[in-house]
This record gives sequence, C-alpha cells and structure tokens, in this order.
Amino acid sequence: MANKKKRRLSVTDFLKMKSDGMPITMLTAYDFPTAERLDSAGVDMLLVGDSLSMVVQGHENTLPVTLEQMIYHGEMVARAAKRSFVVVDIPFPINHHGVHEAVKAAGRIMKETGCQAVKLEGGAEQADVIRAMVNAGIPVIAHVGLRPQAIHAMGGYKVQRDRDALMHDATAAQGAGAFCVLIECVPEEIATEITKELNVPTIGIGAGNGCDGQVLVISDMLGMTGGYVPSFVKAYADVGNQITTAVNAWCKEVRSRSFPDKDHSF
Ligand code: KIV
Repeated sequence: MANKKKRRLSVTDFLKMKSDGMPITMLTAYDFPTAERLDSAGVDMLLVGDSLSMVVQGHENTLPVTLEQMIYHGEMVARAAKRSFVVVDIPFPINHHGVHEAVKAAGRIMKETGCQAVKLEGGAEQADVIRAMVNAGIPVIAHVGLRPQAIHAMGGYKVQRDRDALMHDATAAQGAGAFCVLIECVPEEIATEITKELNVPTIGIGAGNGCDGQVLVISDMLGMTGGYVPSFVKAYADVGNQITTAVNAWCKEVRSRSFPDKDHSF
C-alpha cells in the first residue's frame, strides 16, 4: 500500500521502511508537472537523475549534462514535491575533482535546488567524498554496480557480476555514511545478499526483487523512450504512442478545418 503521509519523508523514514520490510518507491523526474504528479501519486523518492542527459536532452549517454543543468531541473522538481524526498545526481566528473570540489558542488545542489539529498556514482573509491559530504550535513546515496558515467571504462551497459567488488563498494559506501545504496544491473542473488548485509536501504534497478526499493526512469516506465530500452524495464503505459495519435488527430483536424469548431471558439 502506498505511504500517503503528507509531511516530507526523511532519511529516518527510509531506515524504518527497511526495518519494517516496506518497499521504497523511487522514480526519476526532471520537471515541475511530472514531479507534482509523482508526488501526489505517493512516490517516496524523486530522483533528478543525470539520465536527463539522455531522456530530456537527447544525448547518447549521461556524460554531457552539466552541474548548472542539474541544478536547473533539480530546483523545479524540489519545488513541486511536497511529500517525496528529492535526490539530485552529481554529474560527471565532479565527484572526481577532489573532496573539496565535490562537497562544494553538492552544497550548491542542496542550496540552489532545495533537494534533500545527492546521489553519486561510486562505492569504495568514493568513500572519502561520501564521508566529507555527510560531515557537511548532506545526505548521500551511493550508486554501485553499473555506473553509467563510467560507461567507456566499463565497456558498455553490462550486468556487473563481481560479487566481492560489489559487496566491497556497498559496505564501504555505508561505512562512509551513505544513507542508501542504489544498485544497478546486478544479478538478483548478489543484490539480495548485499541488501541483507547492509543496515541502510538498497534501491535496485535491473537488480531483481530482493532490494529494499525499486527505481525506474520515468520515460522508460511510461513508454516514452524512443530508442533502446533495457530489458529490465517494464512499461506501465504507452504515452509515446498516445502523443503520436493525439498529434496526428490534431494535424488532421487543422488541415481539414474541423478544428477549432464552435465549442472551442469565442
Ligand atoms: O540517472 C538516473 O536516472 C539513474 C537511474 C538509472 C537510477 O541514476
């Protein structure tokens, strides 16, 4: 059952949801009207993912989106959300610019968007950065498994199967103070084992049904994505084709002068 509490959810709510065995829902959002809808539908966390580089800006991968653009979209989403906990991605490669620059960027995101947390890609090798952000009062989600910002180094969008490395990343992120770990493209068995090992909640994408929560990219789950859609995505609507049908109907009526009719004229 959706958690319909109206006050803003917090880090402590997510820890409790884990201990109560209550699944956490997270979807991406990039603009005000979508965020308003997801918030009122009772989605627990809204992620202003750097996937906006692909699904909003039309780039081939998540590398081009800038800090300014993440802040621009993050502010709209955070302003729309009343109950949902809003998380904004640190874009490539700012968390690799050293601890000082990374905390500075995360601070700007928190201050200028009004979001509640940031997410960064990385586990063990990002432990110092996570710790410094947490020490600055910034809640952090660590993103382990497939890391789309490292797509060129990882050799493509592949399932990550190195159990020991994944466990090391997740436990190091938790040890550094991350309040949640997002696990992408990992076999269900490994993601479930990590979830059992951690005290903080895990959110899975392409990581099976054993995580504490699930996230999907909104455009994928609404059937809006034109190009390649990963096999772990389930489309819950066909919005892309509905747009095409509606626009075709409108063009036809304009060309035949049947729109606007008397009901839609002064
Ligand atoms: O940027 C994003 O949308 C993400 C999801 C794939 C979890 O990180």
